[in-house]
Amino acid sequence: MRIFLDTANIDEIREAASLGIISGVTTNPSLVSKEATADYETVIKTICSIVSGSVSAEVLAEDTDSMIEEARVKASWAPNVTIKIPVTAAGLKATSVLSKEKVDINMTLCFSVNQALLAALAGAAYVSPFVGRLDDVGHDGMQLVKEIVDIYNHYEFNTKVIAASIRHPLHCVVAAKAGAHIATVPYSVLMQMIRHPLTDVGIERFLSDWRRVSG
Ligand code: G3P
Repeated sequence: MRIFLDTANIDEIREAASLGIISGVTTNPSLVSKEATADYETVIKTICSIVSGSVSAEVLAEDTDSMIEEARVKASWAPNVTIKIPVTAAGLKATSVLSKEKVDINMTLCFSVNQALLAALAGAAYVSPFVGRLDDVGHDGMQLVKEIVDIYNHYEFNTKVIAASIRHPLHCVVAAKAGAHIATVPYSVLMQMIRHPLTDVGIERFLSDWRRVSG
């Protein structure tokens, strides 16, 4: 499973990229609006200069024609821009057109197997089931990820599953076990994934043992 960073914060992206373990970034309008400059173009171009993998930029338009127009503009910002489009009727129509133009689409706000199936049929490069938001309303978000992965494998769809709306490290473990191609994680969760108290205790013990013999 690959890891994308789910943030529009440039400092977090720089730091995570320096670890050499992230292969993409996902943003959404809420994440971009939290940053000092909410100029979507500047934010995406900056991220694309730091990360060479897929960088998702979301369309804000709601009708098909405007989505297509906006997607074409945003896709021109950098070669590694992926366009995020919600799974709606308008979004599916736009995705069908854009995927034929070889624009990579990440169909977002996916909450059901049917939506994921339709996203794949429309030619989306990625689909993003929102795990945490399903958990929030008493559904099993990771079960959805597993079902989508199984169905995509069964029908040999090329669409990649991005486990999104990740809230804690256990989500990443279960996403990996479910066969998700990618988990997109907030920076705080990435930091939690790295840390283990026994690693810290182990380092401290190694160093104190070494100090005892080396004076
Ligand atoms: O990847 C989707 C993510 O940005 C949404 O996360 O925590 O707002 O449900 P959240």
